[in-house]
Amino acid sequence: MTAGGPPKGTIAETVQTTDGFLRHAGREFLVVLYTAVRSLKLYPIENAQVQKALDDLAATTKHLLDVEKEIELRLQGEFIFVNSTRLRLDLDNYASFSHILGVLRQSGIGAVRIDEGVERKQLQIFVSLLLSYAAKEVTATKVFELAQKLSDAGVTHIGVEPPLETDEDTEDEERQTANVKKVKRAVQAIVDQVLNNEASLVGLTTLRDYDEYTFTHSVNVCIFSVALGRKLGLTKLQLYDLGMAALFHDVGKSRVPLEVLNKQGGLTDEEWRIMQAHPWLGVLTLFGLRGYGEIPYRGMIVAYEHHMKTDLTGYPKSLRPRDLSIYSKIVAVADGFDAATSRRVYQTVAIQPDQVLKEMWENPRRGYDQIVVKAFINLIGIYPVGTCVILDTYEVALVHSANPDVTHVHRPVVRIVTTPEGGVQHPGFLADLAQRDAAGSHPRSIVKVTDPLKYGINVSDYFV
Ligand SMILES: [Fe+2]
Ligand SMILES: [Fe+2]
Repeated sequence: MTAGGPPKGTIAETVQTTDGFLRHAGREFLVVLYTAVRSLKLYPIENAQVQKALDDLAATTKHLLDVEKEIELRLQGEFIFVNSTRLRLDLDNYASFSHILGVLRQSGIGAVRIDEGVERKQLQIFVSLLLSYAAKEVTATKVFELAQKLSDAGVTHIGVEPPLETDEDTEDEERQTANVKKVKRAVQAIVDQVLNNEASLVGLTTLRDYDEYTFTHSVNVCIFSVALGRKLGLTKLQLYDLGMAALFHDVGKSRVPLEVLNKQGGLTDEEWRIMQAHPWLGVLTLFGLRGYGEIPYRGMIVAYEHHMKTDLTGYPKSLRPRDLSIYSKIVAVADGFDAATSRRVYQTVAIQPDQVLKEMWENPRRGYDQIVVKAFINLIGIYPVGTCVILDTYEVALVHSANPDVTHVHRPVVRIVTTPEGGVQHPGFLADLAQRDAAGSHPRSIVKVTDPLKYGINVSDYFV
């Protein structure tokens, strides 16, 4: 019984229930669409992972259509609507959100419509076409070509439409001011959430003019930096400043041509020179934003210093000796870690997080501040959450959380996901590696870090 609410069956209640359903099912839909797009980008269609992703997509689509009869996915500004419900962006889904947002925009799509009767085959064709169109240059007619291609391929239950006409008169300046305000609120939200240890993030799509990698990367660096600043004892106000500076550390990359930014393979000397200009281009950009509600002076310093290294062997070259600001040292560590662990798809294999930390800690030529690195290791543990490890019991496990006791950094809490014989189990079970048996020895210890794909383990399945 609900007290005080409208009686069962009223329009208000129906709307509310639908809204709740859509919010949940809509998010799930975006995530499976993202997984399908992502895996088809990496593997051929016959790959088991791709097939599984398409199965999931078909099942989720059907689930939605059973209730809603039609799905309309619409981009509006920085938001995604499923039917009339705006989906919330949070920490767990911002990667999938911003990726899908990017792919649809890049294909010139404002809305996707799916109606009852759609089959798995049609979804498969849609995803492949989406991928090939997103890779092409944006033109005004692109979305119509895509629509034609879909109907040529017999995909009758999925349609794509261009974006709704927006008010072109909106003053650029007004938009900028609004954007800066939104970013500020977003950073405050990050700081508040880091301080409250909450795991949801809101409204962070404002940097959408960046390429997707820079966007996701900037958010990650912001979150890591704020958490790190907190560990190092900064005040709340300082954390706001730090968060802003971290979010904007690579803002200069918005002035680096996309061909250089996204280039596969090595850069020429000239391209490398342009790339290395992003710190001071960032300073210029931040100067340009001054009128729109102040971007703190610290942001400029961080944009300028974040690749300098503590021994000043990085770039830009400093003419005289200088001490890097503590904000720059923090952002440099967060930046180095995120860049090394989340490589873009086409780049070399992502390095395992523990290796990155080891290198940051042990190789002085990397030029990170040792105290900051140490605090960072304390923060995320030597084995960050999600790392796949092999135990001396021959079981494979995923790191679930760092051990709260700093003297046990090598002994996190893990989720055991295979039997000793290698059979994958879901959801598996938790084990605290710091626990001792009656004889006082550890029944389980980490032998080494491994690649989860080798064991057919999909890490995201275990972190829902
Ligand atoms: Fe950078
Ligand atoms: Fe960066």
